[in-house]
Amino acid sequence: MRVVSGIQPTGNLHLGNYLGAIRNWVAMQEQGECLFFLADLHAISQPHVPTELAANTREMTAALVACGIDPSRSILFNQAQVPQHAELQWLLNGTARMGWLNRMTQWKDKAGKNREGASIALFTYPVLQAADVLLYQATHVPVGEDQKQHLELARDIAQKFNNDFASEDAPVFTLPDPIIPPEAARIMSLRDGSAKMSKSDPSDMSRINLTDDADAIMNKVKKAKTDPEPLPSEKTGLEGRPEAANLVGIYAAMAGTSVDAVLGEFGGEGFGKFKPALGELLVTKLAPINDRFIHLRQDKDALDAILRSGAERARKLAVPTLDKTYAALGLVRG
Ligand code: TYM
Repeated sequence: MRVVSGIQPTGNLHLGNYLGAIRNWVAMQEQGECLFFLADLHAISQPHVPTELAANTREMTAALVACGIDPSRSILFNQAQVPQHAELQWLLNGTARMGWLNRMTQWKDKAGKNREGASIALFTYPVLQAADVLLYQATHVPVGEDQKQHLELARDIAQKFNNDFASEDAPVFTLPDPIIPPEAARIMSLRDGSAKMSKSDPSDMSRINLTDDADAIMNKVKKAKTDPEPLPSEKTGLEGRPEAANLVGIYAAMAGTSVDAVLGEFGGEGFGKFKPALGELLVTKLAPINDRFIHLRQDKDALDAILRSGAERARKLAVPTLDKTYAALGLVRG
């Protein structure tokens, strides 16, 4: 079992990242060899400020360690220090099809009406993502629901490459499986139950950041959009109530229980009672992460050392697959 996943170092780690992905990363460290990385090469696909990218890369490293990623056990690094990611992407560009990339919903959402003005990196972003996991022969990729389509593309690229350039008994790439948590696959904005919680939402009130203090968390939950009805006693009663469903889902994921169990406790109650309970649960669970983060983020040298040593280990693991890829394509390297 080889676990690989990444996160873009843009802005803060929020509750969607944590419940959708990072919590699974932490748990999977017990089960297999893990590589987790800051997708800084992906971050340059959209306008960015270089000094902020460097600071965010270190901050996100501190946040991941604060959440429980253990850099002595898992390989924690940033893409920019492992050139094999970009190299493999180029080799896979010959296999990926324009039509496949044109169908990516994230490309359509992010480029919007301005396709002509979008960067080429934004378009080919999923090919780099495929390279990220195929480079290490990943078997399991823990992600939130929004990355499922990119992972399917990675499988398509791997399959076509194997068919075109490898023999059936000696494939070059392993087909990776996405691991998506059932209860928290898609955490929604606190201001709009139809939009996912996201770093790029201009309103900070739309998300809980893992760096928020207790007052900020209580305030954001208190102001979260809801409807006037009391909570139902069963899950079916949440249909057509996206904001209520989101808050109950967050409670269940945070408490490690099911939506039905939460409704068993709070069914019939209004949000005046449920919101303070949710706020307190979040504060209690996130406080230790916040404390560790505040301590870790100050030590720039220690964070750089973690990334340097992770990258060194990652480069070693990357070389054999890259060599096989060059050879399969008939590229002469002396
Ligand atoms: P990114 O940085 O947007 O998000 C990191 C992880 O958090 C999950 N996530 C969510 N899960 C549930 N609810 C939400 N509201 C929510 N928002 C984010 C994402 O699904 C993701 O798992 N392209 C990727 C980074 C990447 C990657 C990879 C991931 C680059 N290469 C290779 C896996 C494998 C991204 O932008 O994630």
